[in-house]
Amino acid sequence: MPKITFIDPNGTHHDVDGTPGETLLDVARDHDIDIEGACEGAMSCSTCHVIVERKTFKNLPNPDEDEEDILDLAYGRKRTSRLACQITLSDDIDKLAVKVPTQFQ
Ligand code: FES
Repeated sequence: MPKITFIDPNGTHHDVDGTPGETLLDVARDHDIDIEGACEGAMSCSTCHVIVERKTFKNLPNPDEDEEDILDLAYGRKRTSRLACQITLSDDIDKLAVKVPTQFQ
């Protein structure tokens, strides 16, 4: 079962379990993590932007070109930025740590 750590802008860590087949956005919502996800995964808003910690970034497949295009719209994009709605958990992802950016940095 994938172990997920969400890190709030204030540094608070939330350690939760994910289920293969769920998206990271689903997991965030299940645990009241403050990630908006306004377009419900239609990949048209970038409000589900998260910054994956470098040590766990390698556990993910690369984003596709469409995700890259939307990430270009995300405020404060970093090299390890991803859209939470586009990360589907699997047994290949044993752990993941992501920072939840503030809306206005
Ligand atoms: Fe809109 Fe992810 S929920 S891009």
